[in-house]
Amino acid sequence: MAVHVERDGAVAIVTMSRPEAMNAFNTEQLQALLDRVRELSSDSTVRAVVLTGEGKRAFAAGADISEMSSKGPAEARRFGELGHAIGRGIGSAPQPWIAAVNGYALGGGCEMALACDIRVASENAQLGQPEVTLGIPAGWGGTQRLPRLVGPGIAAEMLLTGRRLKADEALRIGLVNAVYPSDELLPNATEMAQTIANNSPAAVTATKQAMRLAFDVPLADGLTFEAQIFALAFDTQDQKEGMTAFAEKRSAKFSGE
Ligand code: HXC
Repeated sequence: MAVHVERDGAVAIVTMSRPEAMNAFNTEQLQALLDRVRELSSDSTVRAVVLTGEGKRAFAAGADISEMSSKGPAEARRFGELGHAIGRGIGSAPQPWIAAVNGYALGGGCEMALACDIRVASENAQLGQPEVTLGIPAGWGGTQRLPRLVGPGIAAEMLLTGRRLKADEALRIGLVNAVYPSDELLPNATEMAQTIANNSPAAVTATKQAMRLAFDVPLADGLTFEAQIFALAFDTQDQKEGMTAFAEKRSAKFSGE
């Protein structure tokens, strides 16, 4: 049981590894992921993150049902809040997170993918929110993030029936952005992360923050925030470098300053 972090230049690849249980989250595994989220968020050399699961069968099959089954309401609340802390941590991280969904992403596994900024999947991926079949509602953000991503009607169907969606359907409804053969998933997700990492970190972080606000505040407030970050960008080295590089017909080298 572990959450591994590897580096590929400015990209960090985070692998949830608990293969004996389809990478399902018990408390220890959740805490490990939360620790990694916090460490990576404060590492300015990391400019984009890919989140995936060990092996080819599962991204994560949700919360550990054996651990959850004996919980009372107070423990269940703490368990729910630990998952929420991960989602909030990914949301407030300066770097974009890309979920590379390499198999089953069910329940809490699907919710970790939903917490990321972008999702891509392997052809054998299956995503779903089967909590209602276990006698519980989704508890790590699914009731809130899924309707925002795919719309209320499709989210309601997923959350109320517990039906699993195959990768092609997930692609059609916008739950994932692209589908790749298993062996090509991680290289493609990493390439997307590298593309982001080559852009201005200051502009990427500001864009992520503004997009996250889009669903939380009235349009007028979101536009005010956008106007502020746009103005502040003109006080950065990245803006000077990006526009100078364009004029000089060369690739920009961004410092994030
Ligand atoms: C604990 C799990 C698990 C889980 C799989 N395993 N999912 N253990 N919790 N969520 C274990 C199995 O018990 C089994 O262990 C091993 O992983 C392999 O799984 P199998 O079922 O034998 O594999 P397969 O037949 O291929 O089916 C794969 C599967 C199925 C479709 C992913 O395992 C499944 O439906 N899992 C449960 C998915 C689910 O309902 N997730 C939502 C959980 S609730 P052994 O020891 O028997 O080999 C949730 C709430 C989040 O996520 C919010 C909380 C606040």
